[in-house]
Amino acid sequence: MYGLEFTLNGARTSPEGFGPTTTLLQYLRATGRTGTKEGCAEGDCGACTVAILDPDAPKGPTWRAINSCLVLLPTIHGRQVVTIEGLSEPNGPVHPAPAALVERLGSQCGYCTPGFVMSLFEACYRTDLDRPERLDDQLAGNLCRCTGYRPIREAAQAVAGLRPSDRFRAALEKAEAQRRSWSGEQGGQRFFLPTRLEELWAIQAQFPGIRLVAGATDLGLEITKRFAEPPLLCGLEGLSELRGCRAQAGHHHLGAMTLLADLEDYAELHLPPLHRMLRFFAARPIKNRGTLGGNLVTASPIGDLAPVLLALGAEVVLTGRAGSRRLPLSDFFLGYRKTALGPGELLSEVIVPALEPGIRAAAYKVSKRQELDISTVSASFWLRLDPTGRVEDLRLAYGGMAATPCRAPRTEAALRGQPYTEENVRRAAAELERDFQPLSDHRGSAWYRRVVAQNLLLGFWLETEQQPLPQLPTRPIGTVTPPEARR
Ligand SMILES: Cc1cc2nc3c(=O)[nH]c(=O)nc-3n(C[C@H](O)[C@H](O)[C@H](O)COP(=O)(O)OP(=O)(O)OC[C@H]3O[C@@H](n4cnc5c(N)ncnc54)[C@H](O)[C@@H]3O)c2cc1C
Ligand code: FES
Ligand code: FES
Repeated sequence: MYGLEFTLNGARTSPEGFGPTTTLLQYLRATGRTGTKEGCAEGDCGACTVAILDPDAPKGPTWRAINSCLVLLPTIHGRQVVTIEGLSEPNGPVHPAPAALVERLGSQCGYCTPGFVMSLFEACYRTDLDRPERLDDQLAGNLCRCTGYRPIREAAQAVAGLRPSDRFRAALEKAEAQRRSWSGEQGGQRFFLPTRLEELWAIQAQFPGIRLVAGATDLGLEITKRFAEPPLLCGLEGLSELRGCRAQAGHHHLGAMTLLADLEDYAELHLPPLHRMLRFFAARPIKNRGTLGGNLVTASPIGDLAPVLLALGAEVVLTGRAGSRRLPLSDFFLGYRKTALGPGELLSEVIVPALEPGIRAAAYKVSKRQELDISTVSASFWLRLDPTGRVEDLRLAYGGMAATPCRAPRTEAALRGQPYTEENVRRAAAELERDFQPLSDHRGSAWYRRVVAQNLLLGFWLETEQQPLPQLPTRPIGTVTPPEARR
């Protein structure tokens, strides 16, 4: 792919002869960097973990552990990548990440080890691994089937935030955003990487229907699992105007290209229910690549952010060459995996009203496994009481109950204006039977989904009635967020 260039283990690299849907993992292994392993090729096992330098991270330049099996080669144009091979230098000291694993006997067959080392590598340069659950999250994307996690976790503890004065830290200190547009073709497939929206509009005008790529954690599976070969792809990676979160005039403006890991940090301070959901959303290497926009545009009935944003009253901004339009998120989902995006439009921003004092809001995810699993049912609730304890306004949103994530209008109507009592919540919850006719599938029967949906609403009542209200647990045992406003 002519002109495609990135830095791999400190050396300028220009891959030639590889198609634009080649994954970084395929490229590494095809060129002899076989230290990086392939397990699942779908972002679940972490064997393929490498690190990429993110010069634009909100807290300053940072190394991010990512799953190379879901990274399309063109999306790393101009970036710096480090693999397990890049940690050692002839006669140089052993990097603290592998050293910590060796010292604690954190490896047996060794298949998972390069991936764990690269997750530890990210941990080594992070400055915010200050709580046990953050350390757990750091390791949640890597599976080991023989060693047992205690020594691995101890190794992570030993290196977290170490920030040794080495060449990797120096790279962070001198990192600067290097945005360069690129386009290339190989084997009948074309890939574009614009750095300004104007460029994107021109590309879209020339190639109507071109497929957009954000973090590729969803789209990548079409390529690695269904062997799709999309002829035209356009990466949004270089469009910095679509990235980042800010508070303005009582609203939170969340850029569509904001990485889920950054959104999680922002939401912790400003939007606790969203933070709660992101805590149980995928693992860090996925959150280091996946974006807010990608999550909503997939319009999956079990996408985890949509119910939370529906409950919080979010709007979306759709932008095209002719300008932007703003619509409620509830009008964005038109049907099963169908959105209101018109030809030539992209999702540019999500706007969420700030949480007012006294609002009761929560997010719940029910899945077969607690961590790293696809939701069977998810729910998010937002509720305001008047001074007499009646429900003045509310939004109840569910995922996994219908063809799209959506609100429960009959249940909302049954509770609106009523005293917020157990009896009234139970009566309203019965209306969920009329709001939804869920499907049965391998994750749960229609009956199970209905019962869970009702129980979540009752659980919300119970938890928001407790005095003092429960605080966010450091361990994942409950999901109600405290109601006091955080702006
Ligand atoms: C291991 C694993 C675990 C996961 N866990 C979860 C989970 O717990 N919960 C969950 O909800 N999801 C999960 N996902 C799914 C996925 O990671 C998320 O949906 C993620 O947010 C997708 O974002 P992306 O940037 O990678 O999207 P991409 O894969 O890049 O894009 C997805 C789709 O959206 C389109 N698109 C992307 N951005 C825009 C935009 N701004 N405007 C217009 N179109 C756009 C693309 O054309 C594509 O069709 C998981 C995926 C994996 C592989
Ligand atoms: S190979 Fe399993 S996460 Fe990439
Ligand atoms: S050491 Fe064998 S899989 Fe982890």
